[in-house]
This record gives sequence, structure tokens and C-alpha cells, in this order.
Amino acid sequence: MSEPRHRPIRSFVRREGRLTAGQQRALDELYPLYGVDWAPGSGPLDPQGLFERPAPLVLDIGFGDGEALAEIAQAHPERNYLGVEVYRAGTGRLLRRIESEAITNLKVLLADASELLREGLPSASLAGLQLFFPDPWPKKRHHKRRMVQAPWLARVADRLEPGGFLHMATDWAEYAEWMLELSAAEPRLYNPHDGYAADPGDRPGTRFERRGIRKGHEVFDLIVQRIEA
Ligand SMILES: C[S@@+](CC[C@H](N)C(=O)[O-])C[C@H]1O[C@@H](n2cnc3c(N)ncnc32)[C@H](O)[C@@H]1O
Repeated sequence: MSEPRHRPIRSFVRREGRLTAGQQRALDELYPLYGVDWAPGSGPLDPQGLFERPAPLVLDIGFGDGEALAEIAQAHPERNYLGVEVYRAGTGRLLRRIESEAITNLKVLLADASELLREGLPSASLAGLQLFFPDPWPKKRHHKRRMVQAPWLARVADRLEPGGFLHMATDWAEYAEWMLELSAAEPRLYNPHDGYAADPGDRPGTRFERRGIRKGHEVFDLIVQRIEA
């Protein structure tokens, strides 16, 4: 008898309806140019082969409408960036921006980032990982849907190269504490700031950050590193 199949716990809910004709056109025409062809079950990616030239690779999980990711990729031409999202309208917007601003060090992937991290990226393939304003899933019974979990952090530690960084930001104080505690418990991650970072470093302002600030929330940046050994 075959094993019963359990539905995976997702960190997102697909609420998106039909795309507008323009959004669909952006995906149809631009994804083949700037999107990444990967799906669960297709094995690990060759992340460096995606770009015009090899460079340290930073993964951005859940870029939303891509505004902050486009900005940071342009500020760091010495790095390659891979953004992964499940939100198709936001992905279409970022594809348009890559095209109009001729950004050559940024590619996008429409996929579940948890699956990409699990199956699609080799050990020590990332110079950094950014997780800016992940869905906080505030209700206790939904905490299992949060992206940041102990097994996720263990996987991140494996996919980061020695000295690589994990930069998380949230405006949800209780999720920030959760990130702090869980990352402190992962032996391959080290916190050079001894707590939250004093400033966001090179993270540009994001749409969800502005939304949190309008609601009077404090913003927390947590930047940890993969130990060298
Ligand atoms: C609150 S928004 C933040 C967007 C952006 N980083 C910002 O700061 O403006 C969280 C984003 O994460 C995406 N997301 C959630 N779970 C994801 C997953 N497993 N894989 C890829 N994207 C995911 C959602 O679609 C959403 O766009």
C-alpha cells in the first residue's frame, strides 16, 4: 500500500485571482528571458550558470513587488541575485523592471522558496539570503506556517557558504524574538551583533516595512552569519 500523502504546510495562501492581460503578457514574454526554469523534482540548479558571469549569489525570498530587490541588485553589481516568489503579479512587475532598467545581475523564480531551498540549491551555494518582512502568521495555531523554523534555519546554514549572511527583517516584535531565539540555537549560525542589528545595513525600505511603520510598528533587522569552520 502506498504511504498516505500529507499536504505540506505552506507559508503562503494563494489569494491571487486572474492576472490582468498586461500582467499575463509580462510573464509570458519576459519570464523566458529573466525567469528561472526550475520546478520541484527537477534536481538542483546550477545557480552560477543562470547569469552572464559568476559572482557571489544572494537569494531573496518573497520579494513581493520586487521594488527593494531591484534596488539592492543595482546597488551591488558585484553580486548576482535570485528572487523567489509565489505571487505572480509581483513577479510580473519585477520582470518589467529588469527589462526596462536592463538589470543583468537579477533573475526571478516563481516557486515555493521552501522547496527551492530543500531541493534546488547545493550546499554552500549562497553568499547570502535575504528574508524581508515574511508573513508573520500572528495566531499561535498558525505559527507552524512561518517561514523561519529550526529545520529551515538548519537548511539555510547548509546552503550558505562559510561567512555567508542571513538577513531577516520584520515589524512583528514577537516574530523577531522567535527569529532571534531560533537562529541562536542553530550552531552553524553566528550573530556578530549580539542581538538585533543597530541599523538595516544595505536593506532598502520595502513596501511592507512602510505599511508596518504606518501602523506604529518597530522594525527589527537580524543579520547572522554562517560560521567559517
Ligand atoms: C509580507 S510580503 C513581503 C514582501 C517584500 N519582501 C517586502 O518587504 O515588501 C511576504 C511575501 O512572501 C511571499 N512568500 C510567502 N511564502 C513564500 C514561499 N514559500 N515562497 C516564495 N514566496 C513566499 C508572499 O507571496 C509575499 O509576497
